[in-house]
Amino acid sequence: MADQILLELQDRVQWIRMNRPEKKNALTGAMYDAMSEALTRADADPAVRAVVITGSPDCFTAGNDLGDFANARPGQPAPAIRYLETLAAAGKPVLAGVSGVAVGIGTTMLLHCDLVYASTSARFMLPFVNLGLCPEAASSFILPAKIGHQRAAGLLLFGEAFDVETAHAYGLVNDVFADDQLASGVAAKARQLVEKPPAALRATKALLKRSQADAIKQSMARETEQFAALLQGPEAKEAMAAFLERRKPDFSKF
Ligand code: COA
Repeated sequence: MADQILLELQDRVQWIRMNRPEKKNALTGAMYDAMSEALTRADADPAVRAVVITGSPDCFTAGNDLGDFANARPGQPAPAIRYLETLAAAGKPVLAGVSGVAVGIGTTMLLHCDLVYASTSARFMLPFVNLGLCPEAASSFILPAKIGHQRAAGLLLFGEAFDVETAHAYGLVNDVFADDQLASGVAAKARQLVEKPPAALRATKALLKRSQADAIKQSMARETEQFAALLQGPEAKEAMAAFLERRKPDFSKF
């Protein structure tokens, strides 16, 4: 597990890299915990002025590990929720560098980052409904607030992949880079930030986040309750089994 989340402090920037490429960087409980811990440490460490979350060149993350979803038991601690809460509460600027697929939490975590850079290969997807689930990460609140109800409904009800042009046009992505320029582009943006006065940066970020903070917390709590119930339900069981058995799910019986 140790190398599934790679941490590197470079020029006052804490890089957090998802690194499980054989499973498209699907996130396990241990990986969420490692990322939560890295974020908490970065916030406390005066040597860190900004954080970058990124994945592999061909894949940001395929989202939550579907095997973990399939084995989830009611009342189990939820490392994903802790990770999202930690990310939402991060005090220092968080940048994301996205190339390849960003599925589920791979897309919703971006709503909590301050600056999102993506490459031309980036593909985003919010497949919760198709998995018998509902949105998480306060995306049911943040997305419509950001892009409008109809666009949010289009992305969340159909759960189809959308490309980087759409994400950019919707304001979910700040800038688009060529695939081979993403890492250097994000590093340059992070370098630009860490040269700025740190207290002013943190205060500005806090002020930007303040007005939505309570609504985000409430939305996450509501979603978590419904998500947990749906995860134990027959629609999600059918969807997870279908993925693991590499077949099309059959929702006709519900
Ligand atoms: N959880 C667990 N394993 C996953 C995974 C996930 N979320 N996503 C991909 N994998 C695994 C696959 O099972 C496969 O493992 P295997 O080689 O041992 O069979 C490996 O990663 C490669 O995935 P594959 O589907 O062959 O790659 P692809 O390039 O054809 O497709 C995706 C990539 C991301 C589009 C596809 O894997 C996918 O739809 N994954 C599920 C995404 C999802 O629903 N996430 C949950 C969101 S809430």
